[in-house]
Amino acid sequence: MQNRCFSLYHSGLPFPPLNSDTITIMSKQRVLTGITTTGTPHLGNYVGAIRPAIRSSERDDAQSFYFLADYHALIKCQDPEQVHQSTREIAATWLALGLNTDKAVFYRQSDIPEIPELCWLLTCMAAKGLMNRAHAYKAAVAANMEAGEDPDFGVNMGLYSYPVLMAADILMFNANEVPVGKDQVQHVEMARDIAARFNHHYGDHFVLPEAKVDDHVAVLQGLDGRKMSKSYNNTIPLFLPEKKLKKHINKIKTNLLEPGEPKDPDDSTVFQIWQAFATPEQTDEMRTAFAEGIAWGEAKKQLFELVNGQLGEARGRYEALLANPTHIEEVLQAGAEKARKESREFIGKLREAVGIRPIR
Ligand code: TRP
Repeated sequence: MQNRCFSLYHSGLPFPPLNSDTITIMSKQRVLTGITTTGTPHLGNYVGAIRPAIRSSERDDAQSFYFLADYHALIKCQDPEQVHQSTREIAATWLALGLNTDKAVFYRQSDIPEIPELCWLLTCMAAKGLMNRAHAYKAAVAANMEAGEDPDFGVNMGLYSYPVLMAADILMFNANEVPVGKDQVQHVEMARDIAARFNHHYGDHFVLPEAKVDDHVAVLQGLDGRKMSKSYNNTIPLFLPEKKLKKHINKIKTNLLEPGEPKDPDDSTVFQIWQAFATPEQTDEMRTAFAEGIAWGEAKKQLFELVNGQLGEARGRYEALLANPTHIEEVLQAGAEKARKESREFIGKLREAVGIRPIR
C-alpha cells in the first residue's frame, strides 16, 4: 500500500522528522474525489456518492479532499448559468448534509490554478495513444460512426484530454485512494499510468493512486426503473420541497397489482429506494408488507415519510445556505487556501523538476 512518504521525502527536509505528527501524516490515507458541476444532486448521487463520502471523511485514519470539478463541467456543459447554478447547489448540498470542512479539505477546482498548470506538465507526459483508448472519447466516436458522421464530430479537446485533467486533480494532492463509480476506474488507472511515466522520467514525485469502487453502496433506480441518472431524466432531486418530493415519489413506476395482491420487493423501485434509507429492521418490515400485498399508494406514502424524515433537517440547512451564498463562497475560499498551501509548494518542485526555473 502506498503512503504519503513521497511528498514528505520531497518536502525539502533531508529526512522526515520523527515526531508524532509525522507518524499521523504518514499513516493517513489520502482520499480524494471530484464532483462534476453539471446538475442538481439527486437521491442517487446522495446514496451512491455523497453519503458514503461524508461518512468516510469522519475516519480518523484518512484525510479527505473533496472538490467541485467545475473545469470538468465545461467539457459537456457550455451553459454558464447552469454551470454556476450547479456549483452553488452542489456546494450547498455537501455543507447541508454535514460535511465537516475543518476536517475535510473542500474546494473548487478552478480556485486552484496549480491544477491546470500541472495538467500541462502531465499532458506532455501522457501518450496520445492512451487518450485514444479513453472510453468517453471512444463512445463519442462510436456514436458518430453509427450516425455516419465524421468520427470526431462534436468532440472538443476537453473531452479528449479529460483524463489528463483528472490526473492533475488526483496527483496534485498525492491521493492514495480515489472513490469513484465504475465508469471512472479507467480514468484513475490512466492517472496512475501518467504518474508512473512522470516519476520514471523526472524522479519520484507522485504517489500512484488507486480507484476505489464501493460495491456495498446502492446504485439507485430512477422513476422509470432504470439507473437514476440525469441523462435519463428520471431523477428525484435531493432537496425538493416536501410537496414536490411527494409528487415525485408518486411518479415512481409500478406494476398494476392491486392492494392485497402480493408484490415482489426485488422487482420494485419503491422497495429499492426504501432499502437505501431504511434500517435493516425497517427493510424486513417492508419486505413482509410487500408479501402481504401492501397497496402501492401506501408503500409510496411510507417511502415519502421515511425519505422526508431523513432529509428534512438538511433541506432546511440547504435552503438557508442558498439564501446566503456569500457564506458558501467563504467556505470554498477557506478550503482553497488550505489546498493551495500544498499545491503552491508542490508545483514549485515540479516546475523545478521539469527544468522550468529562474535563471540564476
Ligand atoms: N470525472 C469525474 C466524474 O465525472 C469527476 C472528477 C473530476 C473526479 N476529477 C476527479 C473524480 C478526480 C475523482 C478524482 O465523476
